[in-house]
Amino acid sequence: MQRRTLLQAMTLLGTLPNLAFAKTETIEVYKSATCGCCTEWVEHLQANGFEVKTQNVPNTAAYRARFGIPAALGSCHTARIAGYALEGHVPAREIRRLLAEKPNAVGLTVPGMPMGSPGMEMPDMQADAYDVLLVRKDGSHAVYQHYKARQVAR
Ligand code: CU
Ligand code: CU
Repeated sequence: MQRRTLLQAMTLLGTLPNLAFAKTETIEVYKSATCGCCTEWVEHLQANGFEVKTQNVPNTAAYRARFGIPAALGSCHTARIAGYALEGHVPAREIRRLLAEKPNAVGLTVPGMPMGSPGMEMPDMQADAYDVLLVRKDGSHAVYQHYKARQVAR
């Protein structure tokens, strides 16, 4: 009897992550109308199950500042999900981790536009090493995830 209850509890627990995933979170993206890699990043998010609302704006810097991402850690687009800021080509994997861990922080950024990050894929699959940074509320940051370079003979 006890064993059966435990199994039922485990089955229930097993369904919880699926329920969490089924509830789609909407990402609001602010980008310039002419940004091609921004659109490719949006497609990466959609392919990973996120609902995305895109808004073309004349100046993404204003949104970046409002969301609390330091200008020095900026990229081509800025976004929001569940009260967190997302700056640049942040992989969906780290966004999911952010939503699961819920750190007391501003959000995530991939400064600049590293080659090989989601939306910045090169035809030959060459990739720069880059870091996904967690921006804290005091403006400091820490490496949240490191991605290795992938060198391809040309
Ligand atoms: Cu870009
Ligand atoms: Cu962009």
